[in-house]
This record gives sequence, structure tokens and C-alpha cells, in this order.
Amino acid sequence: MKDALVADPRLLGRPVRRIAFDEGEIAERVEQLGAEISAAYPDGDLLVLGLLKGSFIFLSDLVRKITRPLQVDFLVASSYGDAMVSSGNVRLLYDPETELAGKHILLVEDIVDSGRTLGRMVEIIRERHPKSLEICALLHKRIAEGMKHEVKFVGFDAPKEFLVGYGLDHAEDFRHLPYIASLE
Ligand code: IMP
Ligand code: MG
Repeated sequence: MKDALVADPRLLGRPVRRIAFDEGEIAERVEQLGAEISAAYPDGDLLVLGLLKGSFIFLSDLVRKITRPLQVDFLVASSYGDAMVSSGNVRLLYDPETELAGKHILLVEDIVDSGRTLGRMVEIIRERHPKSLEICALLHKRIAEGMKHEVKFVGFDAPKEFLVGYGLDHAEDFRHLPYIASLE
């Protein structure tokens, strides 16, 4: 693993420690999630709502594995800035244009850490009267306390480290890595 990281020109001089989930594992799990989601929604309009920016790669892979009609829109929330710990101050920077009322909403998140971002997004979406609201997160650190809404679809339980790649960033770097790695 270490050798693969040393040889990766995308990481030149960057403190990336180890690969937590490689490309193959991710692809396999995303395919399973797509099948689970396809089976979970028999009827009604499905709107897959991606939380930007972190979910952009996961979402684009995931929707291609969902074998039923759906629409895609995005939300932009801000919370971390350049820090590696949650500030808890979550703001909505972009609001979806699509009508949410009466639709099945599947909110797609890259990683659940403190759970604060999701908690706030769930409140905002609920006010718009969707037919149902579920969450799909690629990674879950399982440290969030008092989450009012369970995460129905989880890709992987994540190590309690700061992870980058496959959409996840540190100060906007590393989003383009095809694997998920932990920082020093
Ligand atoms: P929460 O509000 O603490 O659950 O944090 C959620 C958001 O923080 C995620 O959508 C990510 O954008 C970011 N985040 C949390 N943990 C990590 C991490 O390990 N690496 C990169 N971003 C993270
Ligand atoms: Mg981020």
C-alpha cells in the first residue's frame, strides 16, 4: 500500500498515510448500494439530492447503479472550512431548484462525522414536505451522538481518521483520488 502511495504522482509531497478503501472495494460496494436502493423504492418520484461538494464522485457512480427512474439535484452546505474538525456552524449555500414536496428524497452524503451537517439538512428538507426522506452516506465514522434520523444506506464504517479522496477533501485538495486514504 505504502509503495502505491509513494508512486502516485497525484500525491507529490503530500502527507497521505495509507489507503483505507481502494478503487475496487469502493466500486463493489457502490454497486451493492445501487441494488439496495433500487429495491427499496418500488414506486413514486425519486429525487437523489447530493450534498456538495464531497458527494460528487460517489453520487455520479451511485446513480448509474440505480435501476429505476430518478432525478438528481444538489445542496451545498458549509461547515468545516479548512479545519479538520467540525465547527458545527452549518449554512445552506445553494438550495435545490427542484420541488421536493411529494417526492421520495434520498440525501447523499460523503461522510458522517459529528452528524451536525446531516441533522441540519434533514430539518431543512423536512420543512418542504417530501413523501419520504432517507440518507445514503458512503462513509460513517459512527461517532455521531443523538442523530434524529438514522442513515439507512451506509457504504462503509470509516476509521476514526481524517479521510481524503473519492470526493473528500482537505482544504479542497485530494478530491480527485480514485481511492480513499487517511492523512498523517
Ligand atoms: P459532520 O457535520 O461533522 O458530520 O461533518 C460532515 C462533513 O464534514 C462531511 O460532509 C465532510 O465534508 C466533512 N468531513 C467530515 N469528516 C471528514 C473526513 O474525515 N475527511 C474529509 N471531510 C470530512
Ligand atoms: Mg469537506
